[in-house]
Amino acid sequence: MSDIQKYKYDDSVICNSVGECEQVDNFKPDHRFVSVDAVRTMARERLPRMVFDFADGGAETERTMRRNEEAFNKLRILPRPFNGGGSRDLSVKLFEHTLSMPVLIGPTGFAGLFWPRGELAAARAAHAAGTVYVMSHASTMTIEELAKETQGPKWFQNFIYRDRGLTASFGERALASGYDALVVTIDNQVPGLRERDVRNGFVVPPRLTFKNAIDLLAHPAWGIRMLRTPNITFANYASAERSDIMALSAYMASNLDPQVSWEDIETVRREWPRKLLIKGILHPLDAVEAIQRGADGIIVSNHGGRQLDGAPATIEALPAIVDAVAGRVPVLIDGGIRRGADIVRARALGATACLIGRPQLWGLAVGGESGVCQVLEVLRSEVDRVLALCGRERFCDVRSDLLIDL
Ligand SMILES: Cc1cc2nc3c(=O)[nH]c(=O)nc-3n(C[C@H](O)[C@H](O)[C@H](O)COP(=O)(O)O)c2cc1C
Repeated sequence: MSDIQKYKYDDSVICNSVGECEQVDNFKPDHRFVSVDAVRTMARERLPRMVFDFADGGAETERTMRRNEEAFNKLRILPRPFNGGGSRDLSVKLFEHTLSMPVLIGPTGFAGLFWPRGELAAARAAHAAGTVYVMSHASTMTIEELAKETQGPKWFQNFIYRDRGLTASFGERALASGYDALVVTIDNQVPGLRERDVRNGFVVPPRLTFKNAIDLLAHPAWGIRMLRTPNITFANYASAERSDIMALSAYMASNLDPQVSWEDIETVRREWPRKLLIKGILHPLDAVEAIQRGADGIIVSNHGGRQLDGAPATIEALPAIVDAVAGRVPVLIDGGIRRGADIVRARALGATACLIGRPQLWGLAVGGESGVCQVLEVLRSEVDRVLALCGRERFCDVRSDLLIDL
């Protein structure tokens, strides 16, 4: 490692102040990462308020964001300990991948704000855990850089832009770089109003007010890491004409197109020969139509409550979508997944696997690659424990009889 100052995050990984990490031993759990909530608390301590809120916040009243978590708690799990559970198998078959656990890392823009080259750190953690990393269009590394530096399964997340040529070119780049699947997100066609960002003056790049300056000074470790990271930007959009972040940010916002149609999905389908998933589905009829237009998978999502405030919790929307899809394609879900029990509940209602958004950003903020590994391992051990306590051996065999019919 080039840097002299090193931080030891746990017994297995040592990271320097710019986030380069070296593996010194096998992964060992760290008791501070006892739960995803504990990681969130640590992230809040380590990040400037406006950066923490950028990830933590949701749209407008944040009711949909909170509902995502609350709705899981309404589903009670009914154990049958005599039925088995002596050894557990958490693996999930998803397209050509066999994941070691039913959790994928979902696409989150600007992960490099939480840890230098955060996308790479999170992708490495996903691959070490035996799962998929989904790269956001708004990453601070390019499609090509991430592909070059990681071996494991990777998906790329795209939008339908006003400039359909840009949509196509991102797809072409992901294809040429060997991404296994394309995720088209359809719930972000106008940006949601995240009021915390407005209150905090969080824009890209951050506006330096007196309050923000105090906030930054109070978090020197984060500040030093970021200062030493050259040129944090929306790397995929950078070009000779547009290199500074202000211009890129404006370009991205102006390219969101509220006028999307199913024909756009058909176009993407024609151009993308590998697996195609549509993310942001909440209506069963949209799930059916997506399959008819060629989607290979559905991601039930409300963008973590960051877009349409008032939308249902994703776990509430899931059963009708699973019914409508009727086993034709895998149905994944994200939004508010904080516990292994939530993942088992989602499986009981028919989801093949879950994605996490904020929890991986909190893991990044606390310990880069190692922090994301810890988050994934916490979830893995929780799923395992729930299965054991419920008398179930195989995650994929969990059915709705695990839940009390209220
Ligand atoms: C900071 C942040 C950035 C995000 N950026 C994207 C993105 O670029 N593309 C996308 O499809 N979803 C994006 N999402 C939504 C996530 O993929 C996911 O749907 C959501 O975070 C799941 O909810 P959870 O955070 O409660 O796990 C973002 C979420 C957060 C918190």
